[in-house]
Parts: sequence; structure tokens; C-alpha cells
Amino acid sequence: MSEWDSFDEIRSAKGVWLTDSKGRKIIDAVGSMWCNVWGHSNPDLIRAITTQSKKLQHSSMFNLTNEPAEKLAENLVKISPKMHKVFYSDNGSSAMEIAIKLSLQYWKNIGEKKRTKIATLENGYHGDTFGAMSVGYVPEFFGKFKKQLFTTLQFPVPNEYRVPNGITFLDHQNHCLEKIEKEFSQRNDIAAFIMESGAQVAGGVIIYPKGFQKKISQLCKKYNVLFVLDEIATGFGRLGSMFQYEEQKSIPDIVAYGKMLTGGYLTMAATLVNKTVYDSFLGEFNDWKHLFHGHTYTGNPIAAAVALENLKMYKKHNLIKRIKSTSKIFEEYYQKISEIDVVGDIRHKGMLMGIEIVSNKEKKTAIHTKKSINKIFFDEGKKNGIYLRTLGNIVMLVPPLAITETEMRLLLEKTISTIESAKLKVI
Ligand SMILES: Cc1ncc(COP(=O)(O)O)c(C=O)c1O
Repeated sequence: MSEWDSFDEIRSAKGVWLTDSKGRKIIDAVGSMWCNVWGHSNPDLIRAITTQSKKLQHSSMFNLTNEPAEKLAENLVKISPKMHKVFYSDNGSSAMEIAIKLSLQYWKNIGEKKRTKIATLENGYHGDTFGAMSVGYVPEFFGKFKKQLFTTLQFPVPNEYRVPNGITFLDHQNHCLEKIEKEFSQRNDIAAFIMESGAQVAGGVIIYPKGFQKKISQLCKKYNVLFVLDEIATGFGRLGSMFQYEEQKSIPDIVAYGKMLTGGYLTMAATLVNKTVYDSFLGEFNDWKHLFHGHTYTGNPIAAAVALENLKMYKKHNLIKRIKSTSKIFEEYYQKISEIDVVGDIRHKGMLMGIEIVSNKEKKTAIHTKKSINKIFFDEGKKNGIYLRTLGNIVMLVPPLAITETEMRLLLEKTISTIESAKLKVI
């Protein structure tokens, strides 16, 4: 905060444009922290919110239910292959806490008490609460809490830009998978393998190579480990398909959704489970198999109503098809972006792009400065009319999913001019 002094206040927003208190407009390349689907002030989403808020604003889901939450659960199960039931929460971190608790308690419920360990990928991110920090341990973010976090088994993730010397990327990928199989085959205490689906986003836009996620799902089946996917940042079209687990042919036992679920308008997340996991929580009251978990705003009817409208719009406007075409605009700019002398790597899938900023292209040295890279890019972005947020040395482009092709070109042009001017301040 001492570096930032104060933040610009956003007063209103329409489509992909944010307007601040001084009337300046900037294009939202962050998609309201990666969750915006249709742009800001969408009339259909606003109508869904206002209509529902006149009927029922909130009612507990302890012993009760409500119509929008019920309907949304039916819809989510219908569009999520092999999923059976939904557990609501109000943010992605909580959805992952629930996934962790469900997967640990599942084994207790079926009488296998030894399975207590969680396996994860290095560099994964699943939220900022303690369980989520434990399974998604990013040292730079969470190092100060390391002692308080529970330990997990961490496995390396193949990053095509940083393949160890002397081996091919395919070898690298195979080594990562072999490590998982070796560990799985030697122990019987692993409860679940938890990973982001399709790509690691906060960890620097590491897009998994083809077959990687599928192979892990197969290893989980082979060694009787629950397979848990986090689609919070990558599902709902962000990476170009509705759910990455379908595209990657890797059916999970538990999957979490968040961010784009409500189009990015209200706070809601969901943890879905298959029938086997769900059934393990059934029993007589005295069996104590139920999950002790619930949040005040679980299944909030206004959030559920806007999520329902959002899902309706995906279908009506064939959003996934539209994303497939808009995301090609990113490719048109590969050449121009990679020619910038501080750009080491471009990683892109669907409506997500990560541009890695380096100080030495040959040596792939991540750019490093005592100043905040995020602040430098934010300030330069603002001068260029774009809201940008970097993660470490990665410039993240995560625009609203329904951005038009013209707006995409503008966003990319503004990104290029921002990198050009920011580099002078970083080096
Ligand atoms: C993959 C992933 N999982 C979980 C979360 C946590 O979601 P929330 O910020 O809603 O708690 C995030 C947030 O960025 C995320 O990217």
C-alpha cells in the first residue's frame, strides 16, 4: 500500500470498458479478476438479478432449499458429464476447501482410514484459505505460512519454456508422469490428486501438454486415488471449451467451478461430485457420515438466478463457438509480441494469454527488479488505456469471454504499447 498510495476508483463499467472517477476509460484485460463473461452492465444478467431480488434475496440452505439454487444444480449436473450432486459455496477457495474435505472424508466414510495424503502439482494455485494454500502452494505467495500448512506430495509439471537441459519436452513430460506413477505404486495412503484443469493459471499460465491430464486421471483410476479437478479459472470457456475435463478426456471424481459461473456478477462457487463420492456420505444419522460444512450464503438465490441466466446465454449465443473464433485473434499477434526484446515466451489457450517478460531472451532470465513489476505495468497500462495485472514476470491477458474481435485487437495493441513503455522502467 505504501507503494500504491491509493487506488483508482471505478465508478461504472459497460462492455469491456471500465470508467474511473475522473471519467477515464480503460479496457478490462483482467476480466474482473478472470471471471467476466459478457462484459459489464449486461441487461439480461441485470434483469435476472433484479427479478430475483424482488422475490427472495436470501434464505438458508440449512434444512431448506430455494428454486434458483435447485434449478442451477440440475443444470450443472446436466452439463457436467458423470457428475451427480452439487455443493454450493460463495468463492473458489471455499469450493476447493470443500473438495479437500470431501476427498479426505470419503475414505473415512468407506472405512479406509489410511488414505489421508493429498497429491498435487508444484506451482498449482487453488485459493488463499489454509487448505487451498496447502494444496496449491505457491512459495512466493504463501511462504510465510508454510509451517501452518499441511504437507502434500508435490509433483513437477512440464513447462515447455523451461525444459531441463539435455532432454526433449516429451521426455520431460514422461519423467513428470513416471514420478507420479512411482509414488502411487509404492504407497496406499494417498486420498486424492488435486490439480487445476487444463492449465495452471496463477502459477504463470502453464498449459499442460496434450495427454498429461488424461494420463494423471488414468493413474488415479489405476491406483485407486480420487481425482479432483479445479476448473474455477479454466472452465466455462476460458480455455476454449465448456469444461477442460471433457476436452482432456479426464473425468474427475470431484470438480470445482467458480469465477465465470455467475458471468462474473455475483459471488458463487460449486463443488460437484460423482455418485460414488456422494453415496459414501449417506447413512443413518448416527453413522456420522455427513459433511460438516456450510456457509451463510450457500446457494444464494440471487447468485443462482444470475448463474442460470448466464448458462442460458452460453447456449443462446453459442459462446463456446464464438470463443474459438475470437481466440484466434491472439494468434495474429504472436509474431508482433514475440519480437519485443523483453518477451521470452507467449503461452496461450482460448481466452487466456500469458506473456513472460525476461531480461535476457537467450538465457530466459526472468525479469527482476526491486520495484513492483505489477505496479509498473499497471501504471503504464493506464496511460495506454488498458487495465493490466501481471503475476510475477507474466503479463496476464484474461478478457471478458464475449469480447468482440475489434475490441480484442485493440486490447492486444494496447498490451504491446504497454510492454514497450514498461520495459524502459523495469530494466
Ligand atoms: C484455479 C483457481 N482456483 C481457486 C481460486 C480461488 O478462487 P477465489 O478467488 O474465488 O477464492 C482461483 C482464483 O484465482 C483460481 O485461479
